Amino acid sequence: MKWLLFSVGALASAALLIAQSRGNAYGPSRIWWDADQGGFLPRAEDYDNAEGTAGMINLNGIVRADEHAFFVALGTNGRACITCHQPSNSMSVSAATLRERWTETGGKDPVFAAIDGSNCPNLPQAAMASHSLTLNRGLFRIAMAWPPPSVKPDFTIEIVSDPTGCNTDPVYGLKGTKPAISVFRRPRVVANLALTTEAATGGTRGISLMADGREATLRTQAITAALTHEQMQGTPTAAQLTQILEFERQIFVAQSSDVRGGLLEDTRGPFTLGPESLSEGKSGSPVGIVAALTPDAWLARPGVPVAGFQKEFRDSASRGSAVFLQHCASCHNETAASKPMDIGTANRGAREALKDLPMFRVTCATGQVIYTQDPARALVTGKCADTGAIVPQQLRGLAARAPYFANGSAATLRDVVDFYDRRYATGYSSQEKQDLVNFLKTL
Ligand code: HEC
Ligand code: HEC
Repeated sequence: MKWLLFSVGALASAALLIAQSRGNAYGPSRIWWDADQGGFLPRAEDYDNAEGTAGMINLNGIVRADEHAFFVALGTNGRACITCHQPSNSMSVSAATLRERWTETGGKDPVFAAIDGSNCPNLPQAAMASHSLTLNRGLFRIAMAWPPPSVKPDFTIEIVSDPTGCNTDPVYGLKGTKPAISVFRRPRVVANLALTTEAATGGTRGISLMADGREATLRTQAITAALTHEQMQGTPTAAQLTQILEFERQIFVAQSSDVRGGLLEDTRGPFTLGPESLSEGKSGSPVGIVAALTPDAWLARPGVPVAGFQKEFRDSASRGSAVFLQHCASCHNETAASKPMDIGTANRGAREALKDLPMFRVTCATGQVIYTQDPARALVTGKCADTGAIVPQQLRGLAARAPYFANGSAATLRDVVDFYDRRYATGYSSQEKQDLVNFLKTL
């Protein structure tokens, strides 16, 4: 089968053969990618998830993983980029997958490396409790130097509670040898980036990478990722960076079929769902998706009769797309989505606080006091007005990569919708909530 896939890759222009390679030898059972495992990432693959399948497309064809900088461990902890950006999880990694890894490896998988795959490097690493944020919420520790280099902040920051112990740690904490604030965040999707980042317009897209927009380009991002997550000594070579960036700019992911709604992609339509359509520019950009996809995209496929629960599901997702357009697209569109915003996921009072995450008190020069579990953009700019401001994620391949929001506070898509319903007191009916959830599942 390996041989078959390889020859298929060699005939990259033969679209028919390529279509047949979907779901073959590297099928859904081959889920977890280890650093340094070698082999090939196929041109196209569908991976099972609870809602159907998530599809992945490598537009430039099959990828040889040996000696590829995205797939090999660049540093000392045995991790590669692929470790936290897994094809089966829409190029992020779900909390459920991480729990599976813990069980399968007795907590020895490099993904749990002390540096950021545990609540704090100083904790006893064999104990599951020391990795609770990674296992329960799919979070990794991000240490932000405080104060930020060459910035004079217009606020002071205090630690109100420190359940992980890392912010008060004598080494890693705010009063440590290298003073830093530790926040905990979900890996973001490393796919569809040709449509979301600077690559699309040649460098003028503005802030778009990382929850706090701290990386201006994929290149600087890749260097930082190698130094931090992979604990690389030195920096990646120019050739390694080229390999990483080329790979990132040609990989696309999206949900490709739904257990109730059937195949989501129909390349005959002018605007359709699925990774193939996305890679061909038929769905707009991942953030601006609804601008290109009319509610018709979810209805019956031309020439394919749709009835029963399949029709019910498609009608529901279609109605959900209309609700999204009305209530959500004002932020989830191409212009707004590159700007960090505080929507109340990070800034929380004592009552809504997530007990397992740190709580900080930010006191602005104006006297204003803000309680936050992740100061986010403010840790980069030093501006109190940026406290809790987070760059929206792209909304594709969602079903394969729960939980949601940068701090993993929404375990399911229903939790996401409930969050917005409460936050903006929208008063959605249960039908509208279900419609929105069904819509999000198909992206
Ligand atoms: C230990 C897990 C881990 C490893 C290994 C890792 N990442 Fe990430 N990645 C993350 C996390 C967590 C974030 C989000 C951080 C944030 O928002 O502050 C992220 C974000 C990103 C983003 C930003 C996407 C966006 O739209 O904002 C890119 C690009 C990325 N990673 C590429 C890489 C590359 C390239 C490598 C290898 C050199 C790599 N990652 C290795 C965890 C990881
Ligand atoms: C006021 C702007 C705004 C509105 C309105 C808005 N969002 Fe968001 N959305 C954001 C921001 C900012 C984030 C990132 C927050 C975070 O990660 O903490 C986000 C994140 C998300 C995520 C998480 C994605 C992921 O990968 O974790 C989903 C899903 C989502 N929004 C769906 C919706 C839906 C559905 C609606 C309408 C009911 C909506 N949004 C309305 C700004 C908005």
